[in-house]
Amino acid sequence: MSAEPARREDAPESGGEPRRGILIGEAEAERPVRVSVEGEELVWHPGESLVATLMAQYFGRRGRGAFMGCREGGCGACKLELLEGVVAMRPNYSKDVLEDEERESGRFLACRARPITDISVRFVPRRNVFFELYGRRLREKERAAVGEGSGTQPEEVSHG
Ligand code: FES
Repeated sequence: MSAEPARREDAPESGGEPRRGILIGEAEAERPVRVSVEGEELVWHPGESLVATLMAQYFGRRGRGAFMGCREGGCGACKLELLEGVVAMRPNYSKDVLEDEERESGRFLACRARPITDISVRFVPRRNVFFELYGRRLREKERAAVGEGSGTQPEEVSHG
């Protein structure tokens, strides 16, 4: 495991902690932190990758199994946009799926990232696996709210 310390990409605002920043390197919060995804609140626990938190807590066990992303920084399926907070992202990812310019604009790969502070994120607005699953979960919640759903279990998602 790399021991490269995280370095700050965004300068702190007026001497304090930055409101939004993507650090490069190995770092994570030492306590559970809140993760707001499209307005829904999750909890990340130390030792987890952010993609594991999203899949386990947001989509449930069945949804986690359905996620077909590489989980190694090579496919871009887990790309998120950071709205608030600070994350650290391991440097071993493909620049083909996350260019420096894109990262500097606030996008990062959840499978390579760990939060440093409470964070707020949203899915990158293009078709990807997270976005598909998120949409399915929203539709299930809407059906359940109007009494048409058969429960809260997420749907199985098949790819390919
Ligand atoms: S799951 Fe492939 S880049 Fe994150």
